[in-house]
Amino acid sequence: MLQRIAIRQQQQQAAGLLRRRVLTEQRLPGQDAQNIMPRTVQRQGRILVDFAGNDYLGLSFHPQVIAAQQQALQRYGCGSTASPLVSGYSEAHALLEQQLCRLSGHEAALLLPSGFAGNSALLKTLFSAADTVIADKLIHASMIDALKDHQVKLRRFPHNNLDAAAKLLARFPGSALVTESVFSMDGDSAPLTALAALCQQFDSPLIIDDAHGFLLSDSLTVQPFARLVTFGKALGGQGAAILGARALIDFLAANAREYIYSTALAPASCAGVTQALQLAASGHLQQRLKQNIELFRQECQRLGIRLMPSATAIQPLLLGSSERVMQVAGELLQQGFLVGAIRPPTVPQGQGRLRITLSASHQPTQLQALATAIRECCDAG
Ligand SMILES: Cc1ncc(COP(=O)(O)O)c(C=O)c1O
Repeated sequence: MLQRIAIRQQQQQAAGLLRRRVLTEQRLPGQDAQNIMPRTVQRQGRILVDFAGNDYLGLSFHPQVIAAQQQALQRYGCGSTASPLVSGYSEAHALLEQQLCRLSGHEAALLLPSGFAGNSALLKTLFSAADTVIADKLIHASMIDALKDHQVKLRRFPHNNLDAAAKLLARFPGSALVTESVFSMDGDSAPLTALAALCQQFDSPLIIDDAHGFLLSDSLTVQPFARLVTFGKALGGQGAAILGARALIDFLAANAREYIYSTALAPASCAGVTQALQLAASGHLQQRLKQNIELFRQECQRLGIRLMPSATAIQPLLLGSSERVMQVAGELLQQGFLVGAIRPPTVPQGQGRLRITLSASHQPTQLQALATAIRECCDAG
């Protein structure tokens, strides 16, 4: 077995696709007047500005979020200690579910320890080999895996192509349609209003993975059959929720194996996310993020850097080969910037890219400095 593993590792290494973990420590520096932390991390003794994480609103270090978690730790202990159906479902869980419903307009919510588990719970409990599901070409690996594991017949339409989606819906009326609100690797948004209208026309349930769009985009203007929201990104925490009608949530709570046979999310995590939701609901942080997105794109345009079209916190720069991606990401690291180096199989062959993620907590000077560094690295290469 170890020999087999070694061969596969060597093959990945030779193709420039070997992934390795690197110890990265979040730093807790000072905060500014609005309680926003400048985004820096520490790696191998070096301090880097973090343009790789998904802490879009800068809530992971927010003092009120930390305080809420600390209080909940005192009250509920470190873990939930059991499955939600046994004794792991506490007041902290119920309060978070209520808050999610208030903000989203959905009737009920089900909490899971991660977005990956959430997509798995939702899709595997709803669909089997007898079903056809229509999906955007770029949906997240967690949804593809869930559908494939259950041998669901998956019909994918080209990314954001409404005509192709309509044709599939006409061919398979009543089949569910799955998309993301904001696509994780491209940063662009799905035409949700038009997709919702199509689904209504063909009596098809719409399922939205809102991991990167919840409270950051206009994704709440449509009310799908089911919505997955995650807490590990804009809300700075951990875990996820499936939102939908009471009947759907009760069905999942009673049947989803990921829910029944797994320890419930820690109550302290729930309390932190509830506080983060309250802070996010004011819209101030989103305003600051929007300004940062505009500034970064303007700066890149001024310097002739051609970012992919995106109005969201995810700003990819297409570079092509895996070697080029690793080279430019490495040079940026030398200059003190951590960016996501995205290679196949996460993206198609030849579409390697830097995944630059912006946060409300970035300072304008950090955004300008990154754009200048990208220009220099690309010129040098
Ligand atoms: C679109 C999308 N859905 C689901 C997930 C999984 O969420 P989590 O990180 O909470 O497991 C991710 C995370 O990478 C994602 O980008």
